Amino acid sequence: MKIFEQIDLLKAYLNEQNQNKSVGFVPTMGALHEGHLALVEKSIQENDLTVCSIFVNKIQFTFEEDFAKYPRTLEEDIQLLESIGCNCLFVPNQDSIYPEGYTLKAYNLGDIEYVLEGLYRPGHFQGVCNVVHRLLDIVQPHQLYLGLKDYQQCKVIEKMTHLTSLDKRVAIKFCETIRNEDGLALSSRNKRLSMNGLNKATALIKILTKAKERILAAENDVDLTLLSQESTQNILENGFDSVDYFAFVNENFELIQTISNNNQPLTILTAATIEGVRLIDNIKI
Ligand code: PAF
Repeated sequence: MKIFEQIDLLKAYLNEQNQNKSVGFVPTMGALHEGHLALVEKSIQENDLTVCSIFVNKIQFTFEEDFAKYPRTLEEDIQLLESIGCNCLFVPNQDSIYPEGYTLKAYNLGDIEYVLEGLYRPGHFQGVCNVVHRLLDIVQPHQLYLGLKDYQQCKVIEKMTHLTSLDKRVAIKFCETIRNEDGLALSSRNKRLSMNGLNKATALIKILTKAKERILAAENDVDLTLLSQESTQNILENGFDSVDYFAFVNENFELIQTISNNNQPLTILTAATIEGVRLIDNIKI
């Protein structure tokens, strides 16, 4: 695997490649797990060349402390990427992504920027859009691979590529959430949980699944506010310390309160904290 820290060297390498080669790109912040590797493997299957990036993007962290605490496991990450045959790893530093005098962009993302994750992590999605836009400009991939565990992030990035017309040259591939044998969505944050915490954390997907089943089985209107309250209570009773939200959105990422036609596609999203670790998950209906 080729490893580049400098933008110009990466670009020179990519230019040297046959121009007819398709390039797949997997942006990450490192601390790689099976979920990331599944994205890289999908890209390898579908493209001639796969580029993965590892960059802990300071500007997407609302709290300085979270940035400092973010796990950095570069040596292990390199080994994992090599073991699955990734072609190229880009590991830039903060100064090359945001050189002195660099002006951050402001994206008009609409309401999606301020609800759910956006409400609890002000500025987060502008930070994500800035870095993904910058990385896409550098790597110029044909396909971008994103994991659906971060469903709101997927929708935000899709919108950013639309606003910037990047969608004309890069297709986004959304990939299913990878889970452990108990259903817990894989996340770099799981590394901070005890065995007991990991066991209890499986309650999230169980309660999301229960809510989905309630909606699918309903013959009349479902009061989603009530379902959200009951599910939140259930999460707390299963050992979580707090729940930020348990919410329902339609395809346009609009929050919905009642549902009368259970054929309407929707997604249930939740964020909750256990042992001081904030986890998110979602399920599609
Ligand atoms: O999901 C992540 O790991 C990050 O938000 C991303 C997309 C790599 C941007 O920093």
